[in-house]
Amino acid sequence: MPTFKVFRYNPKTGDQAYFQTYQLPEIKGMTVLEGLYYILENIDPTLAFRSSCRQGVCGSCAMHIGEKYRLACETQIADIGDSVSIRPLAHMKIIRDLVVDLDPFFAQYEKIKPYLIPSGEPPTREFKQSPAQRAKIDFHVDCILCACCYGSCPVVATDEKYLGPHALLKALRFVDDSRDGATNERLAYLASDFGVFRCHTIFNCQQVCPKDLDPTGAIGKLKMKALWAKFTGKLGKNE
Ligand code: FES
Repeated sequence: MPTFKVFRYNPKTGDQAYFQTYQLPEIKGMTVLEGLYYILENIDPTLAFRSSCRQGVCGSCAMHIGEKYRLACETQIADIGDSVSIRPLAHMKIIRDLVVDLDPFFAQYEKIKPYLIPSGEPPTREFKQSPAQRAKIDFHVDCILCACCYGSCPVVATDEKYLGPHALLKALRFVDDSRDGATNERLAYLASDFGVFRCHTIFNCQQVCPKDLDPTGAIGKLKMKALWAKFTGKLGKNE
């Protein structure tokens, strides 16, 4: 019979945080998210957690499950053992139980200007891209902004100004996009004190990404591109 030890905390009560144990029925194929819904609907209606799509698309059910940051809707209980501890994402304020305040996470994301910036006059018709140009960004666009990488990053834990692996992975998506005209301006920002050179290449983000993306590798590429732009005198200067 599966046992969940779930982190409970309500800052409004002033009580200490604790782990509450719940016994669940053994149901073949049950995911951790379904287990949490079982608790909510049958045992304890006060448990707070986030979810939306239930199919690994929206990223809202990211949490720490059995020693790793994962998506609850994509994790089958049978794959992680009978007794599992469940905690919220780290490095963010806890609103209640498994729900954290994601505002700092999205604030860092906004700083990398996650939209195309055309060079010159705004276009009057659609941008065109060849299949080869599109293939360059195929990898990075799959990020669902779940914050597993952010929660696992020790640099985020110690430096609130650090942009974070999610923002830097997305930044490469725009730097590598043939339609974007702000590459060198972006690289100058990403090479600043709170950007790519704050990364210590610890690989936590790569290990936990539920979409098998490689934020560590993306940050490494951005470092090389920023250094090359500096070396060639182009850093900060758009074409
Ligand atoms: S509920 Fe959307 S990713 Fe899990």
